[in-house]
Amino acid sequence: MNWRNLFKPSVKYSVFTLIAVGIIVGVAGYFVTQQTLHATSTDEFCMTCHSRHSLKDEVLASAHGNNRAGMVVQCQQCHIAQEPLNYLMKKIIVSKDIWGYLTIDGFNTQEWLDANRREQADLALEYLRKIDSSTCRNCHNHVIENPPESMKPIARRMHERNYAKPEDERKTCVDCHRGVAHPYPKAHQSASK
Ligand code: HEC
Ligand code: HEC
Ligand code: HEC
Ligand code: HEC
Repeated sequence: MNWRNLFKPSVKYSVFTLIAVGIIVGVAGYFVTQQTLHATSTDEFCMTCHSRHSLKDEVLASAHGNNRAGMVVQCQQCHIAQEPLNYLMKKIIVSKDIWGYLTIDGFNTQEWLDANRREQADLALEYLRKIDSSTCRNCHNHVIENPPESMKPIARRMHERNYAKPEDERKTCVDCHRGVAHPYPKAHQSASK
């Protein structure tokens, strides 16, 4: 085909045909995107690049993988906001990780994670702060809204005091709760800074 034809008004196909084709392509694209998002939301997907990192074992050893409910919380349940827009935004950021994966020397090694843990942890926390820990609240809202009898008085008191404050003065969950799934490193363990 002569490429110039692409820029000429179409004589062969009516505008309606073109619109119909456009709609079909759009709908098909939507479903492909949904499927991709679904496939990229499993621990296996995350662990394709992080396969030599101890991250999954850490979750399994924490309260989020080893609890009475027998529930293993998935990576994306904590790390990716479920609101469609945030979800997509984070996916786009993760897709930037493809570049990092290809270019960061020794990325997929435990040594790299150990050396860069603090910096990476703080990046993860920055994202969670930006979404006001919405992923945590998806599972734990009741501890704030309707605390169970069994809850420690200190926890109840800290939560009540925090949520009595105006919204812009409140702390978010991860300001007080660090290391709920991986050991949060002390500053001096960061070798990269
Ligand atoms: C294509 C490879 C790849 C995939 C897939 C991947 N990651 Fe990563 N991830 C990286 C790289 C590379 C970094 C380091 C990024 C940097 O510092 O530039 C990283 C860093 C992180 C960080 C710390 C930094 C930050 O921005 O929060 C978290 C948390 C994280 N990944 C979670 C996940 C989760 C959850 C998944 C699955 C939904 C996932 N990753 C899938 C390559 C990947
Ligand atoms: C998919 C649901 C889910 C998500 C998401 C989730 N949690 Fe949990 N969380 C649990 C379960 C289940 C337990 C274990 C409860 C038990 O042992 O009775 C737990 C336990 C806890 C505990 C008490 C144990 C401990 O480690 O001190 C804290 C605190 C906590 N979660 C904070 C968080 C924070 C902060 C986030 C967000 C980064 C989060 N959770 C995300 C389900 C979830
Ligand atoms: C101002 C600090 C602070 C903030 C903000 C905060 N917490 Fe807590 N939380 C605590 C303290 C202190 C405890 C009690 C010590 C402990 O068990 O780790 C606690 C305990 C908990 C527990 C265990 C409750 C139990 O049964 O004993 C969970 C779950 C929890 N918090 C979830 C959350 C979630 C989710 C958020 C965000 C919506 C949040 N917290 C915000 C300080 C805070
Ligand atoms: C219960 C919630 C939760 C689960 C489940 C979880 N993470 Fe995290 N993750 C966090 C939080 C919160 C941080 C920020 C640092 C901290 O508080 O320890 C973090 C930090 C990280 C980091 C930065 C380095 C570090 O260790 O701090 C990476 C990479 C990461 N997570 C990947 C994963 C992967 C991959 C999975 C699944 C195998 C996973 N996370 C499961 C909550 C979670």
